[in-house]
Amino acid sequence: SSSRLVLGIETSCDDTGAAVLDETGAILGESLHSQKEVHLRTGGIIPTVAQQLHRENIERVVQEALERSSVTPGQLSAVATTVKPGLALSLGIGLEFSLRFVRQHNKPFIPIHHMEAHALTVRMLQPVAFPFLVLLISGGHSLLAVARGVDDFLLLGHTLDEAPGDTLDKVARRLSLIKHPQCSTLSGGQAIELLAKDGDRTRFPLTTPMGQTYDCCFSFAGLRNQITMTIMKQEAEEGVKQGTLLTCVNDIAAATQHTIATHLAKRTHRAILFCKAKGLLQSNSPTLVVSGGVASNQYIRKALTLITEMTGLHLLCPPAKFCTDNGVMIAWNGVERLREGKGILPPNVDVCYEPK
Ligand code: KG4
Ligand code: ZN
Repeated sequence: SSSRLVLGIETSCDDTGAAVLDETGAILGESLHSQKEVHLRTGGIIPTVAQQLHRENIERVVQEALERSSVTPGQLSAVATTVKPGLALSLGIGLEFSLRFVRQHNKPFIPIHHMEAHALTVRMLQPVAFPFLVLLISGGHSLLAVARGVDDFLLLGHTLDEAPGDTLDKVARRLSLIKHPQCSTLSGGQAIELLAKDGDRTRFPLTTPMGQTYDCCFSFAGLRNQITMTIMKQEAEEGVKQGTLLTCVNDIAAATQHTIATHLAKRTHRAILFCKAKGLLQSNSPTLVVSGGVASNQYIRKALTLITEMTGLHLLCPPAKFCTDNGVMIAWNGVERLREGKGILPPNVDVCYEPK
């Protein structure tokens, strides 16, 4: 076919991903190697370990994506790779591999911003016209932005400390949820969502962050401190060792999830009102896109639904598979850039990106 084909490569954090897409966004082949299990065992990502795992897997992952698509390197129109933001050591593996690859096969190189790729993935699945509001919530990021074009984003708010997924993961670790039989293979966020279902969110009252701050930024560190104090107090009362609470874990999970959901919903509400006042969204079909690993949380989605219904916005949330890190979203961003001729570098490029 005459359709242009893009190979996308992602190594910014703990997933080695590759995918081949055609111009319409059809996924011709993909491969993903997750390091999550390793990092779960070490209690967090150790950058040098992540780097080593990317190094061990990148070649095979890219080969697999190409083979599954039956596309040869020669047939590609470009290679798109995440260059920022992320872990410098992890990013370096994808970048190094890609620069070698594009030189060898004489293909244009498209550097991709990981967050922009998350924000635009929805457009691969359905037509969503610019400008639209995006809420990105994952283990590494927390931001609200208006997507105005492929390379045009207006940042409305970001986290002042940590991201909500990080908070969920740390609370889960503090509660040793990995030792719970139902939770041994789940991420922190998934474990908390599951346990919260049987919890009473009112038993441990938590204060929603930034009640007096009139902007669209986020903060989760103070909330996590509140939760840690609650856990310590409860451990002392029950006379048990750290991380061995039994009776009230569900209630703490429910309070944690509820407070994070409330904070996210309140900041998103502010952003929507701001956008409306300034005319920053599509007037006929104003849309909020929610993406990132935390977006798969049904309770958080429900809280956001209340806000969008109240303000008359469409809420779009890509399926979980497209909310988390993979090569597909990077390839799609490459397709969008290729279409508009934006940010395409020659094969012999010798860039050294300063990852932020
Ligand atoms: O997007 P992602 O796969 O990776 C990045 O962080 O970039 O997101 C992973 C994060 C983890 O912190 C995980 O705990 C959280 O998303 N997460 C969830 C759920 N599933 C994953 N948080 C809340 N509820 C979930 N169901
Ligand atoms: Zn991500």
